[in-house]
Amino acid sequence: MMHLGVNIDHVATLRQARYATMLDSHNTEPSVLDAARAALAGGADSITLHVREDRRHMQDADARAVRREIPLPLNLEMGATEAMLEFALDLKPDFVCLVPERREEITTEGGLSVAGHEEQLRPLVAALQQNGSKVSMFIDPEEAQVRASAAIGAAMIELHTGRFANTLGAERAAETERLVAAAKLAHELGLEVHAGHGIQVANLAELNAVPHLTELNIGHTIISRAIFTGLTEAVREMKTAIETYKW
Ligand code: PXP
Repeated sequence: MMHLGVNIDHVATLRQARYATMLDSHNTEPSVLDAARAALAGGADSITLHVREDRRHMQDADARAVRREIPLPLNLEMGATEAMLEFALDLKPDFVCLVPERREEITTEGGLSVAGHEEQLRPLVAALQQNGSKVSMFIDPEEAQVRASAAIGAAMIELHTGRFANTLGAERAAETERLVAAAKLAHELGLEVHAGHGIQVANLAELNAVPHLTELNIGHTIISRAIFTGLTEAVREMKTAIETYKW
């Protein structure tokens, strides 16, 4: 059965838009912890949070509270830095997804460049996995990135579906083929295969072409839908939608 990781970063983005300089205020909202509870109630299989180096959305306290209070696996997205490693070793999330961080982005565009950075990433992956956090690499669907992820000992990859989601027609067909090839290779190499970024109910059916996916990490569309339905219902809808995945 396909797992649904619910990314609730945008809840923190909204909170920070008003309360970044007054997080201790009695007014502070919306609550990240309540969002995680609502996602749990809707059937989320895990909660995903991206604690960025500059802490502009999720704060350390958010991650610690979700870890402590929410009885679901926690997937921490983070940049591959020494400071974030230290944070993750202390937090001990179930999963860590290493992502690229460019400070000017609102979300994460483009996958991590694993190929060419193996020596820097291998010890980080080893330290996290020895500490009990299974590590995935958020990568573009490219052979070199898949092979490098396996070579450095990561347990999982998360295929970046941004280009798939943001194109149509021949371009999307070509990107789907790239996802198929990357998923097959990753599976052959013993990697667990996840996917994320830009996935919506409207493009889910086309992901049926991509084999071996065991988890989708979805944020933006769920939070957008939640404006109209509430978060629990938005998660429930997505959970039902991803059950159509046939592999
Ligand atoms: N996976 C990763 C690694 C991400 O960084 C993000 C957020 O950009 C997502 C999944 C979720 O993407 P979206 O919010 O477009 O569903």
